[in-house]
Amino acid sequence: MKKLNREFWENKYIQGDMGWDIGYVSPPLKHYIDQLTDKNLKILIPGAGNAHELMYLTEKGFTNTYIIDIARPPLEAIRAKLPNFPEERLLEGDFFDLNIGDFDLILEQTFFCALSPQLRPKYVLKMKTLLKPQGKLVGLLFNFPLSKSGPPFGGSTEEYIALFEKHFNIKLLKTAYNSIKPRAGKELFFIFEPK
Ligand SMILES: C[S@@+](CC[C@H](N)C(=O)[O-])C[C@H]1O[C@@H](n2cnc3c(N)ncnc32)[C@H](O)[C@@H]1O
Repeated sequence: MKKLNREFWENKYIQGDMGWDIGYVSPPLKHYIDQLTDKNLKILIPGAGNAHELMYLTEKGFTNTYIIDIARPPLEAIRAKLPNFPEERLLEGDFFDLNIGDFDLILEQTFFCALSPQLRPKYVLKMKTLLKPQGKLVGLLFNFPLSKSGPPFGGSTEEYIALFEKHFNIKLLKTAYNSIKPRAGKELFFIFEPK
């Protein structure tokens, strides 16, 4: 089993081996962001990578956005692209050690699938502790069978419900209708709210 640690991810960026990076905000998340009116929402993007969602949120005038990634190279790239972005909201480290909370919204985009599946229960609990009681975890989860060959590691609607339902209300979990072509039919758009 590969060790999915900082070194693993930094090497991926250094070697340009980033099949997950679509180069722009993913259409389902763009669509979701477009209907948000409160630009002061406290928003977290975990495992943000090149953080195209952050670029989009910034462009749209959102003022309280945070990102965290374990790998330095993408964070350096963001510093270069957004030189005025506050350092205290550009976090380098392990998501599971994050000790800033009270988020209104956490956006999931190919972070869950990048983690070792054994960390999934821990992800669920961590997300719950990071969100405000009325907060939302929103994003995309892959809808292909879980195998040992990831990342990305897949899953199914049933697996995700079983994993999240104890701690979250499943407001929406449906095949995304606006995925990019190579992911069409393979990702579920979801909105989960803490119980
Ligand atoms: C598959 S990439 C997705 C990047 C970005 N969300 C995207 O869609 O382009 C997974 C990202 O999660 C980061 N990552 C992996 N484990 C992490 C952890 N425990 N804490 C924070 N970031 C982590 C990796 O460095 C990588 O940037």
